[in-house]
Amino acid sequence: MSDTGIEKRKAEHLRLVREDSVLHGQPTLLSDIRLVHQALPELNLSDIDLSASLLGKRLQLPLMITGMTGGTDFAGELNRGLATLASSQGIAFCVGSQRVLWRHETLLADFAVRPQIGDGLLLGNIGAAQLLSEPLESIVALVDMIEADGLCLHLNPAQELVQEEGDRDFRGVTEKITELNERLEGRLLVKETGAGLSPETLLKLKASGVSCVDVSGSGGTSWTRVEQQRAVSDRSRRLGRSIGDWGVPTAFSIIAARRVLGDGASIIGSGGIKDGLDVARVIAAGADIAGFARSVLLQFLDHGTAGAAEWIEQLAEELRSIMLLCGARNCRELQNVPRVYTGELKDWLAAYGWDGQGSKQ
Ligand SMILES: Cc1cc2nc3c(=O)[nH]c(=O)nc-3n(C[C@H](O)[C@H](O)[C@H](O)COP(=O)(O)O)c2cc1C
Repeated sequence: MSDTGIEKRKAEHLRLVREDSVLHGQPTLLSDIRLVHQALPELNLSDIDLSASLLGKRLQLPLMITGMTGGTDFAGELNRGLATLASSQGIAFCVGSQRVLWRHETLLADFAVRPQIGDGLLLGNIGAAQLLSEPLESIVALVDMIEADGLCLHLNPAQELVQEEGDRDFRGVTEKITELNERLEGRLLVKETGAGLSPETLLKLKASGVSCVDVSGSGGTSWTRVEQQRAVSDRSRRLGRSIGDWGVPTAFSIIAARRVLGDGASIIGSGGIKDGLDVARVIAAGADIAGFARSVLLQFLDHGTAGAAEWIEQLAEELRSIMLLCGARNCRELQNVPRVYTGELKDWLAAYGWDGQGSKQ
C-alpha cells in the first residue's frame, strides 16, 4: 500500500474509533470474574502497593497504553502527548505501527518519544505481515530507531481479512516469530489487536520461545467492525458484519495465557479495559499488568493530557480500594485472591477442561 494510503487509513481509524458502534457486541467476560469481598482486610489503604514490572523496568501503576497511532498528520502530537501522559503516571507506552518509517524517514520525529517518556518503558510496534515481507534486520532495527526497550508484534488476521486492501496469506508467521524472538532476546512482545489469543495460538507462541504477550481480547474495540465501517465493497461489508464480534474474550484469554505460558511469562491483559475494577479482574485472572487503547485515547482526545492523567489517577484509586477489599497488599497478592468464575467464562473454561476456580490459573 502507498504511504498516502496508509496515512489515509490511519486517519480514518482515528475518526471511526470515536464511535461506540466499533465496540464488540460480545462482552470481555471480565464481569464473570467475581472477586470475593473481605470485610476484615487488616490493611491500610495507603500501604497498598500498585507498582509492577515489565521487561526489567519498574512501573508505578500496572498499566500500559497499547499501540495506536502512526502515519497520520496528527500522529506526532498524539504520540508525544500519550508518552508524556505515560511518563507522568509511571506506566508503559507502546507506539503504533512503525511500518511507515521504512519509506518515510522524515516521520521518525512522530515516533521518537524517548525524550517524553524519559527512562520509562517504551515499546516499538510492527505487524506480523511485515515480518513476512521485510528482512529481519529491518524489523529488529525498529527498536533502536526509537530507543525503545522492546518491540510489540501485532497479530490481526481478522482485521486484515475484512480490510479491502488487507493481507490474505498468513503462512510462515510462526516460524518468523521464532527467529525474531531469538534476535530480540527477551525483548519481543506478541499482541493481538482485539480478537484475543486462544490456547492453541498461545501454545504456538510458547513453542516459538515467546514469553511476553498482550492478549488484547475481544469485548473492547472490534477492528473487524472498524474495517466494516470503512468498507466500500459488499464483500468487506458483509464479512465485517458476520465477524464483527469475532474473537476470544479478554477474561478467558488471560486465564489461558497464564495456564499455557506459565508463571515466568509476562502477560498484559487488555481488550475493553475501562476502569479500576476491570484492571483488578485482569490481574486476578493472571495478568501482570493491564493495557488499554481506545478508552485512554478518548480521554486524551476529549480532555487533553491533564484530563487523561486525572482519569488514570481515578482508575488507580479504584484499583487501590478494590485491592484492599480483596485483602491484597500488592499486585502479586491480587493474582492469588479468592474469586468465583461465573456465566459464560465458566463455559469457556469447562470447554478446555479447566475448572478455573483456583488462583493464578
Ligand atoms: C486508533 C487505534 C489505532 C490502533 N493501531 C494499532 C497499531 O498500529 N498497532 C497495534 O498493535 N495495535 C493497534 N491498535 C489496537 C490496540 O492496541 C488494542 O490492541 C485494541 O484496540 C484493543 O484494545 P481496546 O479495547 O482497549 O481498544 C489500535 C487501536 C486504536 C484504538
